[in-house]
Amino acid sequence: MQLKDSLTNLTPLSDEQQRQLSQALSTLNTQQLAWVSGYLYGLSQAGSQPAVTGAAAAPSGNLTILYGSQTGNAKGVASAIKAQAEARGLPVTLTSMADYKPKQLKKETHLLVVVSTYGEGEPPESAVDLYEQLKKGKVGKLEGLKFAVLGLGDSSYEFFCQTGKDFDSLLTKAGADRVHELASLDVDYQDAAKAWGEQALNAIAATLSAGPTGSSIASAVQQAVGHSQYSKENPFPARLSVNQKITGRDSTKDIRHIEISLEESGIRYQPGDALGIWFDNDADLVGEVLALAHLSGDEATARGSLREVLSRELELTRLHGGFITGLAETSDNAALKDLAGDKAQVNALVASAQVVDVLKRFPTALTAEQLLGLLRPLTPRLYSIASSQSEVEEEVHLTVGVVRYPQEDGTVRSGAASSYLADRLPEDAEVRVFVEHNDNFRLPQNPDTPVIMVGPGTGIAPFRAFLQEREAQGAEGKNWLFFGNPHFTQDFLYQVEWQRYVKSGLLSKISLAFSRDQANKIYVQDRLREAGLELYQWLEAGAHFYVCGDANHMAKDVQEALLDVIAEHGQKSREEAEEYLSELRRAKRYQRDVY
Ligand SMILES: Cc1cc2nc3c(=O)[nH]c(=O)nc-3n(C[C@H](O)[C@H](O)[C@H](O)COP(=O)(O)OP(=O)(O)OC[C@H]3O[C@@H](n4cnc5c(N)ncnc54)[C@H](O)[C@@H]3O)c2cc1C
Ligand SMILES: NC(=O)c1ccc[n+]([C@@H]2O[C@H](COP(=O)([O-])OP(=O)(O)OC[C@H]3O[C@@H](n4cnc5c(N)ncnc54)[C@H](OP(=O)(O)O)[C@@H]3O)[C@@H](O)[C@H]2O)c1
Ligand SMILES: Cc1cc2nc3c(=O)[nH]c(=O)nc-3n(C[C@H](O)[C@H](O)[C@H](O)COP(=O)(O)O)c2cc1C
Repeated sequence: MQLKDSLTNLTPLSDEQQRQLSQALSTLNTQQLAWVSGYLYGLSQAGSQPAVTGAAAAPSGNLTILYGSQTGNAKGVASAIKAQAEARGLPVTLTSMADYKPKQLKKETHLLVVVSTYGEGEPPESAVDLYEQLKKGKVGKLEGLKFAVLGLGDSSYEFFCQTGKDFDSLLTKAGADRVHELASLDVDYQDAAKAWGEQALNAIAATLSAGPTGSSIASAVQQAVGHSQYSKENPFPARLSVNQKITGRDSTKDIRHIEISLEESGIRYQPGDALGIWFDNDADLVGEVLALAHLSGDEATARGSLREVLSRELELTRLHGGFITGLAETSDNAALKDLAGDKAQVNALVASAQVVDVLKRFPTALTAEQLLGLLRPLTPRLYSIASSQSEVEEEVHLTVGVVRYPQEDGTVRSGAASSYLADRLPEDAEVRVFVEHNDNFRLPQNPDTPVIMVGPGTGIAPFRAFLQEREAQGAEGKNWLFFGNPHFTQDFLYQVEWQRYVKSGLLSKISLAFSRDQANKIYVQDRLREAGLELYQWLEAGAHFYVCGDANHMAKDVQEALLDVIAEHGQKSREEAEEYLSELRRAKRYQRDVY
């Protein structure tokens, strides 16, 4: 009998509970099912706070695993290490850095940190507060704390795994004792992360007595039960239903409104979440790479023909340093060897070129194995969800800026996923998707709370979802939107929808910054400064402040403007304004989804 069928007879459960339980159980193997059944029996015998069978005497400490994650990878690794720790019977707690009070660090005995890196070597949003407090020396001395750090990153960025490195050195500086070496893992981190987890836990277990806690097991079950069966590793084959260009004919940008049908998936998402998209590489690009490497594409590999593997499984557009240095080892091209020996030149090439450009510049005949060895696994791209299920039910909407940029020789290079959605995927075709939940970008729980949303360019996406949700909730809180793009006539994304919301009163205020409609550039932060007094009053009245879009320039400039507004209208020094903003962040009233 199918699990699903057997569940339909569980009358005490509601339909939604049955669906969630059925989904959670379908992801478990036989061993896990046996464990869960025993655990649930214990739970039913002991009431809501179970004494777990086999629990040892109170342990002498606790392992805390803290993760700082933006797109779920570090969270996934941390959760897996937690499961490894539980399997050993270690007392363990898993917490996002966003929900962790830095002062708590002093009370920890054993700590594992799993953290990714963003921007130009900066911590992910959820890690900023803890990182800053450690950096400013505000957590005090951590003598006696045993710790180890696993950093996740991408070696195509100049500051590879910088945040992991920083946490490692900051904890050491605070007097904590490193019990296992720092790991700096690249995009193909899975196997290495698992091995590191085992080794780090060996070191931890040497000084931590075993004894599972009820709360940690309960949260494991809670996590399993709340999870959809579809994930990054097991995406849902959805259908593309709408692909509409929403910038004007004369716009410098090609931005698409994308609608995808999730019918029959049971997938649920919330405003603030992102959608992961798996894509195929452009067939012409695959052909070009094969030709430059003197390969036909028909070569057989363990996973199908070389052409198929290049199309579906490997990154061709995002270059990484290892491709250049690896190619230099294979090639006898002296110029390539020189370049590969100079880190600055490698970084510059990684930032400006794709795989095909390197092969064009340094033609090298390769075997299929050599080419496969140089390329990294393809990673899905994330898009902030631009719809609320209260409004669109089994659909999900996105706002996708198509990445296209000219090369010196006049050819145009495209971004792999954005051009797949915009140009290569026919309407009604299958597209593999999954939801990446983001609890660090959420509407206030109280619908009466005012919200301020800053989303220039494609950064507008989550705020369309926010407003759909606020309308469906009948939320009484005021809403203020800041939007910017180059030209009013060409680039006013979702203009009609905002006008409708202004008319209905849902959108209390809209502040627009069309950057190129006048001689001087005007940006959203200029509008923030102009409206500084009112903005400060909203903050004082409890408003939540959200920013989405470009991380490297816009989000930093918006933060500066916000600090200026707080300092000027709150009559505060720079330091006091920074503390005010940190408080907002801690209270989850300053949230960013920047990329
Ligand atoms: C949490 C999150 C949410 C996101 N939300 C959105 C969203 O709502 N809408 C949206 O459009 N994007 C969003 N992005 C960005 C998106 O995930 C992709 O990174 C983007 O679409 C580019 O992917 P691609 O595969 O098309 O290009 P890639 O194949 O990744 O890029 C190809 C090459 O182009 C370079 N490149 C990339 N962007 C540019 C650029 N702007 N100018 C010049 N060169 C560039 C890259 O360095 C690379 O060498 C989000 C990212 C994250 C992490
Ligand atoms: N890391 C990634 O994977 C990735 C992938 C795709 C996109 N992105 C980034 O995401 C951003 C979103 O792209 P988009 O095309 O939708 O919008 P965008 O480039 O951010 O442009 C939106 C508006 O913001 C303005 N702007 C430029 N610099 C600004 C600044 N420092 N402060 C405030 N506003 C500024 C632009 O003006 P002007 O153009 O007139 O100056 C434009 O009017 C891009 O910047 C892109 O680099 C990152
Ligand atoms: C916009 C953006 C910026 C990034 N910047 C860096 C960086 O500076 N250094 C680095 O090593 N990795 C960088 N990465 C890669 C991430 O750290 C990597 O994908 C990691 O696995 C993400 O983990 P998370 O999902 O837990 O956030 C960046 C990724 C994105 C999307």
